[in-house]
Amino acid sequence: MAGFWKPETRNEDDFAPSVFAAPSRVPLVQQRMILPIYKHKRQILYALEHYSVVVIVGETGSGKSTQIPQYLVESGGWAANNFQVVVTQPRRIAAVSLAQRVAQESGTQLGGRVGYSVRFDDKSSPYTQIKYVTDGLLLREATLSDPLLSKYSVVMVDEAHERSLNSDTVLGLLKKIRRVRKNLRLIVCSATIDAQVFLNFFVGNKDGGDPLGTGTVISVDGRQYPVDILYMEGPAQDYISSMVETALSIHRKEGPGDILCFLPSGEDIDKAIRMGEERLRENSSPVVLLPLYGTLPLHMQTRIFQTDSKDAKTRRIVFATNIAETSVTVPGISFVIDSGLVKLPYFDPRTGLERLIVGPISQASARQRAGRAGRLSSGKCFRLFTEDFMVKNMKGQTPPEILRANLASFILTLKALGVENILAFDLMDVPSVDALSHGLELLFALGAIDKQTHLTKLGVDLSKFPTEPPVSKMLLESLSAGCSWEVLGVAAALQVRDLFHKPRSRRQQQLLDYEASVTSLADPSGDHVTYTNVLAEAEDRSLDEEECKEKYINYIALKRALEVRNQLASFLRQFGKVEAMGITGDDSRSKAIRRCVTAGFFFNVAKLSNDGRYYTLRKNILVVPASSSIYASHTPVSSEYIVYGETMDGPRGGIELRAVSAIEASWLREVAPHYWE
Ligand code: CDP
Repeated sequence: MAGFWKPETRNEDDFAPSVFAAPSRVPLVQQRMILPIYKHKRQILYALEHYSVVVIVGETGSGKSTQIPQYLVESGGWAANNFQVVVTQPRRIAAVSLAQRVAQESGTQLGGRVGYSVRFDDKSSPYTQIKYVTDGLLLREATLSDPLLSKYSVVMVDEAHERSLNSDTVLGLLKKIRRVRKNLRLIVCSATIDAQVFLNFFVGNKDGGDPLGTGTVISVDGRQYPVDILYMEGPAQDYISSMVETALSIHRKEGPGDILCFLPSGEDIDKAIRMGEERLRENSSPVVLLPLYGTLPLHMQTRIFQTDSKDAKTRRIVFATNIAETSVTVPGISFVIDSGLVKLPYFDPRTGLERLIVGPISQASARQRAGRAGRLSSGKCFRLFTEDFMVKNMKGQTPPEILRANLASFILTLKALGVENILAFDLMDVPSVDALSHGLELLFALGAIDKQTHLTKLGVDLSKFPTEPPVSKMLLESLSAGCSWEVLGVAAALQVRDLFHKPRSRRQQQLLDYEASVTSLADPSGDHVTYTNVLAEAEDRSLDEEECKEKYINYIALKRALEVRNQLASFLRQFGKVEAMGITGDDSRSKAIRRCVTAGFFFNVAKLSNDGRYYTLRKNILVVPASSSIYASHTPVSSEYIVYGETMDGPRGGIELRAVSAIEASWLREVAPHYWE
């Protein structure tokens, strides 16, 4: 590695040495007291007595999410008079695992004093004092039942630096509520140093300032050892192979400690692991390569945390997406290798297409990633880019989701909250006019708003659904079509993504077995009816984990899809009778299902052109059904029109379609006449 790497030319203040790491065998009570936040307990309680907004900044792992709510309830009395303390998280996995941890720390049953509530899963009771929720769920509560969030004494918005669309909306909503509920306290937690931005949002001078509010910032010193930063001298030719080479080189030459490698996507991670395993063959020193990304089956994810059972001499090389940046802490890391890349969804309102784009991370992300190497002792971070690139090409912060997202759902939520003029709603960043008009147009086409942009009766119904507006519309349509049970299966499958688990290995027999299994369940019309078939098969034959494995069905995804379908079914019953069409002997069932899908996703339609390729119907953009879709692999004759669930960038730069089915042109005029005529 010598000669290839350049040390950083300046010191990073962020990596100041600090207190000791908490060994996991220390009793829980003591573990709580060693956390950096513990020293700030009184300061936090005092601040909350005197200020209505408290912004707390501290490194990941300093104890913000787990400890602050406990301080508020145990010592601050913020759960008196049946009030609750609620903590929002951008990800459901974080809400659930934090609640589990805090229930354990406080020696109580999960769902009692400490609970959680996320979409399709609620473990809380009227006695719950600390509740972890997703930010989306808090918005839902406000929309459906409690616009002033009146049962909460304190709302803590965690991971605010991630700037998710929902957490930004929650911040805007809280700003509004605070004008009415003077006793409400807000805590905004962030891992980066832009605390003042959050404070200014609430108590700054915008609009002449907020006369009611005062606020303060508390900084928690991180538990952080120094990290040496090393840059490449020139740009990496191929980031995956540079990553693998660097990891193996660290393994050969450096002292003990695990290695965490940041790559932009699951596919890259699988590729890096294959490459690494091939190159390792001649090398016999003990090392294990592990993947970590969001769509990985849960049992594979949990392997990352099982350090107790590992042989101390075995070095772990973990290949992760940005999930390991702030939300998941991988234990035992001394080395970080950073590709400097991230894959993020960007919605283009002019084309109506969402694209997952791989691009440079922000400087804040680069610092955060490097910091992961200094949790245990001093560490090293190898950046697969030049220092010059970082300074010139990386933005300070990642653009917030509100500037990159499809806003239809966001607008519907605000309308349901009674915000008529979206532009008057106070937000940290204001979305573009294009994005807002696209969202309004979509809602109008769905029938959710009228020409004056007021919510219609259908819009009110759609806003109550726990799903995205197109999925909700598809479900409502299925009630009158007599196939709601089948369409519930489609909706559930769309929530969990891949039901089939394609084998990673390239062994011929495995691939043939996989193909045979898919063929036996595939419907020639494409993905949506196939989803229903997989769920029906799993239920009729009550498939267990072993059988799923044999059939290459993703057992975890399947179980979750069945659970989600049941929850959605009990929700849908409010609107009508849920019934199954069952086997019809002809294609009327398949047609009924796809017609409902079209009623929700009519704006996602592509047409076959004379050149044998598909182009989006509205903007004439070339698109290709993804090779993983059943439509691409199992539909014998190409249909003139297809409907799709989502788009993403393909490996060769084309736009790929996921969840694709054949449809009939006449359905478009039937389900969305105002849009297609
Ligand atoms: O919120 P912040 O990132 O500052 O820290 P935290 O999530 O409260 O975590 C504090 C400590 O609690 C971590 O360092 C872990 O040791 C532990 N923890 C855990 O064991 N399991 C969790 N699900 C969350 C935290």
